[in-house]
Amino acid sequence: MEILEAIQNRKSIRDFKPDPVPRELLEKILKTSLRAPSGVNKQPWELAVLAGPVLEKVKEKNAEEFLGGQKGHKSFGSGIGRDTVYRERQVDLAIELFRLMGIAREDKEKRAQWTGRGFNYFNAPAAIILLADECLPLQRVLLDIGALMQTICLTALAYDLGTCIEGQGVMFQDVLRKFGGIPENKQIVTSIAIGYPNWSFPANEIETPRENLENISLWRGFE
Ligand SMILES: Cc1cc2nc3c(=O)[nH]c(=O)nc-3n(C[C@H](O)[C@H](O)[C@H](O)COP(=O)(O)O)c2cc1C
Repeated sequence: MEILEAIQNRKSIRDFKPDPVPRELLEKILKTSLRAPSGVNKQPWELAVLAGPVLEKVKEKNAEEFLGGQKGHKSFGSGIGRDTVYRERQVDLAIELFRLMGIAREDKEKRAQWTGRGFNYFNAPAAIILLADECLPLQRVLLDIGALMQTICLTALAYDLGTCIEGQGVMFQDVLRKFGGIPENKQIVTSIAIGYPNWSFPANEIETPRENLENISLWRGFE
């Protein structure tokens, strides 16, 4: 797949076929993705790749936490200020997902079920958890880890795999440590659900908009 095509085609996938992704394929994708750049080439990332019974247990325990009303760890990207265009875009995304899924705004039960799907890694057969050693100040390495995150999502497309970056997938950090075997000395940054997309799932039809370039860019010296 051409790079421009991959960038245009990547989208968040929120339902996957049950087919497992072989370890060898995930290794191939990750080895390529490790070409991602990082400041001073410090490569401040580590990965936990979960699948099979380990991931199933994490899903089950996540569901227990969620249904038990636990709030979980705040994920990066959450907590957007009210009355901002950013919050507006977040609301627009939810409206569009719920429209595709036929979930009414006032249907609290279905909305909760939708949230629950996220804690289930959208039924993905594998999840990649991005980690950083405890000695690293997270604010200083998030750009690097973000570059790896996007590179993984793009590389996956070359093998017909879909992904969803998921802050939600790392909200219950104790679950990931206990049942995913993630050591205490590794900071848990974010997760990527990965698998073969279920293209008949309505939410996978989503086409998220982007702000026009002219509204978010300053150009100097081109006159
Ligand atoms: C840091 C980060 C965290 C995200 N967390 C979630 C999440 O918890 N649940 C979810 O459904 N999507 C999550 N997403 C996906 C975004 O909603 C998605 O990227 C955005 O709506 C743009 O849509 P697209 O990925 O289809 O282009 C996350 C994306 C990023 C970059």
